[in-house]
Amino acid sequence: MDKLLEQITDVAREAGAIMTSASFDEDQIHQKEGHANFVTDYDSRIQNFLIEKLHEILPEAEFLGEEEGRTEFEEKFRKGYLFVLDPIDGTTNFIVGYRQSVVSIGLFKDGRPYIGVVCNPYEDECYQAKLGEGAYCNGQPIHSSDSPLERSVIQAGSAPYNKELHPETFRILAEYADRAMDYRRSGSAALDLCTIAAGRAGLYFELTLGLWDFAAGVVILTEAGGQATDIDGQPLTYDGRTSILAVSAGVAKEDYLPVCRRKTPM
Ligand code: IPD
Ligand code: CA
Repeated sequence: MDKLLEQITDVAREAGAIMTSASFDEDQIHQKEGHANFVTDYDSRIQNFLIEKLHEILPEAEFLGEEEGRTEFEEKFRKGYLFVLDPIDGTTNFIVGYRQSVVSIGLFKDGRPYIGVVCNPYEDECYQAKLGEGAYCNGQPIHSSDSPLERSVIQAGSAPYNKELHPETFRILAEYADRAMDYRRSGSAALDLCTIAAGRAGLYFELTLGLWDFAAGVVILTEAGGQATDIDGQPLTYDGRTSILAVSAGVAKEDYLPVCRRKTPM
């Protein structure tokens, strides 16, 4: 496997070990902007660890991360290497002890996703992909499923920090739940994308995400044969927040866009 991909995976595994060995109390949990949006001291600690280790591997790369420092995409990131970090994707899960959170490391090259590593330390599963070189979980190749929507489970993110999006989210979810076998909610967007890549789910959508939530997962998904667009089927943009609609190879063959968002009914 590619050396850079291996090195980034090693760093993500080490960061995952910090996550699973965490013990913290209420005064290490802080409120951020938006509904029920919290950050813990561990988010910052893991992000600092990632920046230090990844800088040693690729000194020329810039950094953009969910916690502190640079959180906005800058024009200069359209050239060269940029690490896009989510130290703990699934912070709410982490706070309540739900044991389903991941470390997500995306590497952009010239403004586009190039490498993705997502490590779930609770399951000891590290998803890895480099553009054009396939997707892997713990070094084994993975492929998205060929099953149609009616034979798949689907996943939805609730855009939890933006309550205004809840009615629209649940309208779309109701529509997909009718068409699929059942629905799931993991609490980590990065993990949802990898779950499709691993052939375990057919679709995932969410009406708003930060770049760090999907930067790594989208490379893993597309290298596993899946597809990702915005909720209306338009190409994803990589310079800020966006909605997302991600599907397996099987679901991609169908007319899967949400009917309730179409201007003219089917
Ligand atoms: C969140 C998770 C969640 C998704 C939110 C994200 P965070 O990231 O990925 O599943 O629904 O939209 O913001 O805050 O846990 O890093
Ligand atoms: Ca996140």
